[in-house]
Amino acid sequence: MHINAPYELVLFGGLGDLALRKLMPALYLLYRDGRLPSGRIFAATRQTLEREDFLGRIEKALKSHLPSEYLELATWEGFSQCLHCLTIDLNSSQGYLDLATTLGSDDPNRVYYLATGSDLYTPICQGLHDSGLIKSNSKIVLEKPIGHDYESASAINNIVSEYFDECQIYRIDHYLGKETVQNLMVLRFANSLFESQWNQHYIDHIQITISESIGVEKRAEFYEQVGAMRDMFQNHLLQLLCITAMEPPARLDPDSVRDEKVKVLRALKPIVGNHISDNVVRGQYDAGVAEGKPVPRYRDEPGVHPKSMTETFVAVKVEIDNWRWAGVPFYLRTGKRLAERACEIVVHFKEIPHSIFPLQHKSTMANKLVFRLQPDEGVRLMLCEKRVGPGMNVRPMNLSLNPANHKQTRVPEAYERLLFDVLSGNATLFLRDDELLEAWRWVDPILSYWEEIEQRPEPYTSGSWGPAAATLLLAKEGRLWDENS
Ligand code: BG6
Repeated sequence: MHINAPYELVLFGGLGDLALRKLMPALYLLYRDGRLPSGRIFAATRQTLEREDFLGRIEKALKSHLPSEYLELATWEGFSQCLHCLTIDLNSSQGYLDLATTLGSDDPNRVYYLATGSDLYTPICQGLHDSGLIKSNSKIVLEKPIGHDYESASAINNIVSEYFDECQIYRIDHYLGKETVQNLMVLRFANSLFESQWNQHYIDHIQITISESIGVEKRAEFYEQVGAMRDMFQNHLLQLLCITAMEPPARLDPDSVRDEKVKVLRALKPIVGNHISDNVVRGQYDAGVAEGKPVPRYRDEPGVHPKSMTETFVAVKVEIDNWRWAGVPFYLRTGKRLAERACEIVVHFKEIPHSIFPLQHKSTMANKLVFRLQPDEGVRLMLCEKRVGPGMNVRPMNLSLNPANHKQTRVPEAYERLLFDVLSGNATLFLRDDELLEAWRWVDPILSYWEEIEQRPEPYTSGSWGPAAATLLLAKEGRLWDENS
């Protein structure tokens, strides 16, 4: 795969948080590695900036978000020649006509990246269409969350598909760009060892955690509207679940993979009515300590309503009603201001049926396979071995695979991988319209229930692992969350 030059990337929300923190650094790294040929990158923004100020903003962002060893003057000078600032009012038709004049009438490998709120997706698509900017080589990237429920997501899908064919639409979920997620697919489908064990006969349960130590930061306006369920669960966590639980696709092409993921979403057991309080926990952080410093409660963060009902934590027991997974619970959780930043998928295998080592409790001998997405990406298989010395004492040991130990110099960032895939036309790691809708269909009853009951989410101390009810969710079934596994 390679990027077809000349390419043009128009980044709507071009000086926003996502663009500065993730997209520009990822593009710079692609350029630095010689994977991004020369082309034109337009940061489309409401602001009018002199070129010098604009480049100063981007350079500052690269310095803040990339390790200093990656910043070389010659590379920056080359990269900065690709960058252009483009002032546009996204709600004015004149803005798109001006954009058309700037871009010209050719049909190059052009990508429109919508790093804006999803309320702007409709005016942007209409503006692009009305000014003749959608051509056969154009692609569009939509950031999550797409909509705020099934109905709004479906309305966005309908509008976007009026103007773009499904094969031109890239719905991004950056968790799918993380190296370990792709490694999970390779480990599952390139080894016969795991597939034979990957089912209800051998697996006791699976835990998927995305924990963050940061709070809401400066994103209160956005976060108050979404909460953890829409920001992290409906997309990132459900996507990780799909990759873990899907059947082997026949091929690695986009539709074969997406067909299998959508089957998982369709097989999720609905959680409705009384089952919601038994299977779903929502929390909101209280004051506490994060990274050694005192931090305020969520309701006292700037921009947050003092009586906010927005959840900053969610944990759910999910079941998949199909032959492979019947009876195997998947425990999913995510939250802000938790004890540490980590993302892990932990597969807990069943205990051995009988232990011949009398001092060892058989549950401590259950194998675990840990996929760590961040930090320190890697895979660990926890096995038992004999402790050296007299007797037959057993102790746990880890077989580790760490991509950073390979000859490879560095593990690419998720957005690097995904931007490369969009520009080179590979949609395998992007969501199809039906996947998006199935995820909303499953999450919607939980969101509606929360709106109806109008209860404050359970408070938890910042720097802890979330509310007590989350511990109970597993404890009532005789299990524990993996903390620092
Ligand atoms: C984003 C969410 O999608 O993912 C943020 O909007 C969250 O709230 C971020 O902080 C986490 O991404 P990562 O890659 O840093 O784990």
